[in-house]
Amino acid sequence: MSRSVVLGPVAVLLVCVLVGCDGGVEGVAGSSGVRDPYFPKAGNGGYDVTHYGLTLDYEPRTRRLVGKAEIRARAEKDLSAFNLDLKGMDVRSVEVGGEPARFNRSGDHELTVRPREDLGGGDSFVAVVRYEGVPEVVTDPDGSEEGWLPTEDGALGLGEPTGSMAWFPGNHHPGDKASYDIVVDVPEGLEVVSVGELREKTVDGGRAVFDWRVSEPVASYVVTVAVGEFEVRRSVAGRLPVYVAVDPEEAEAGAEVLDRIPEVMEWAQDNFGPYPFSSTGAIVEREDDAGYALETQNRPVFPGAPGVELLVHELVHQWYGNSVTPKSWRDMWLNEGFATYAEWLWDEDHGGDSVQDVFDALYEGDYFEEEAESDGVWAFPPARPPDAARISDSPVYERGAMVLHKVRRTVGDEVFFDILRGWAAGRRHGNADTDDFTAFVEKAAPDEDFSGIWDDWLYGEGRPRSP
Ligand code: TRP
Ligand code: ZN
Repeated sequence: MSRSVVLGPVAVLLVCVLVGCDGGVEGVAGSSGVRDPYFPKAGNGGYDVTHYGLTLDYEPRTRRLVGKAEIRARAEKDLSAFNLDLKGMDVRSVEVGGEPARFNRSGDHELTVRPREDLGGGDSFVAVVRYEGVPEVVTDPDGSEEGWLPTEDGALGLGEPTGSMAWFPGNHHPGDKASYDIVVDVPEGLEVVSVGELREKTVDGGRAVFDWRVSEPVASYVVTVAVGEFEVRRSVAGRLPVYVAVDPEEAEAGAEVLDRIPEVMEWAQDNFGPYPFSSTGAIVEREDDAGYALETQNRPVFPGAPGVELLVHELVHQWYGNSVTPKSWRDMWLNEGFATYAEWLWDEDHGGDSVQDVFDALYEGDYFEEEAESDGVWAFPPARPPDAARISDSPVYERGAMVLHKVRRTVGDEVFFDILRGWAAGRRHGNADTDDFTAFVEKAAPDEDFSGIWDDWLYGEGRPRSP
């Protein structure tokens, strides 16, 4: 038996509102930001990037970068236009689906693209942006410098929180992770080190071309390209390929600690569970080349040879930060509190101070030499930095780690390490926020009351009344 359904005009309208209709209904413009509480114009609404194919040609002598970004994405609704983030650089052309698209630049870093035809909600599309210029150095709200940094012997792409938009166009917000192919063409004699694995290096006609690929999702702030003279050492940690690149000037100072990468990886996997990526390593630049170390995916960047705690910190970010990535810049303590806690755990496990000793010293104000620094721990609640300039301040690091220690003391070691591993496993390659974490902890230990910890340590102003 068959029934034919005849829809009246009101019903048709309703169906169109619910599912969208072809023809007649126009796509809308995707938004120019995703309303991040600290960087409202970072990222863009209306689409989700699945893959970046970057082809870069860099000339250190002139600092000129010529780039092609092939951006594969999915429209989340019908779109007449969408934005990419790109700071500086000249855009030569944009194509969408193989057709030239109109584009214009506005604000600090908005590149608006208007495809010839609207994109349908749910459809995949490919945008190709050709651009060139001398990339800008970006100064963060906290005063640190990033973007595409010229170094003594090349350049370094560094991007937390917003530097990556200085060297490739994209959806530059941690909420939209994607895989990457990064092909970089430089003068012969220089090395290029990036995220993921090196698939091929070809040298021809005075140029060297490096083809890097990472297939796991990467947040754009932990993408890097390092161009320069490097001593490259390949080894294995268990079955995991290790690729370490060290500036020759740092090679001697760095050798001992970098040789410990397999040991650190084994220790980290024991504590935090299976490593979420396909290779590991490190990139060591000269001390003056960058203002901060960064947990760039697979292999962190260090300005100068790191100590073992800093190595532990950046490698553990691969679990907490790179695999489990904050939904917004407000959730930074989920990165830094965990990576700091890992440093304390490393010391505790290797004959140093216990985590409880560190916690007590911080609480009593004996941890830092300077009083101002000791007081700084209590400047604001870890989960609520007051502004963008302070997302990398001490409360996010030390007090964030203290929150974890409060949880450990409440649930005991067994459940605590289950929580650390379960959080990394459950949110693997995804995004999470503070509410997700507190809910996860509460579920893991349903008989405990965590409200005091959340209220006083995570969200409360000032130094909590009891340790
Ligand atoms: N994530 C880096 C580290 O811990 C430090 C850092 C650089 C940072 N820029 C930031 C942290 C911006 C938070 C926000 O090694
Ligand atoms: Zn960190």
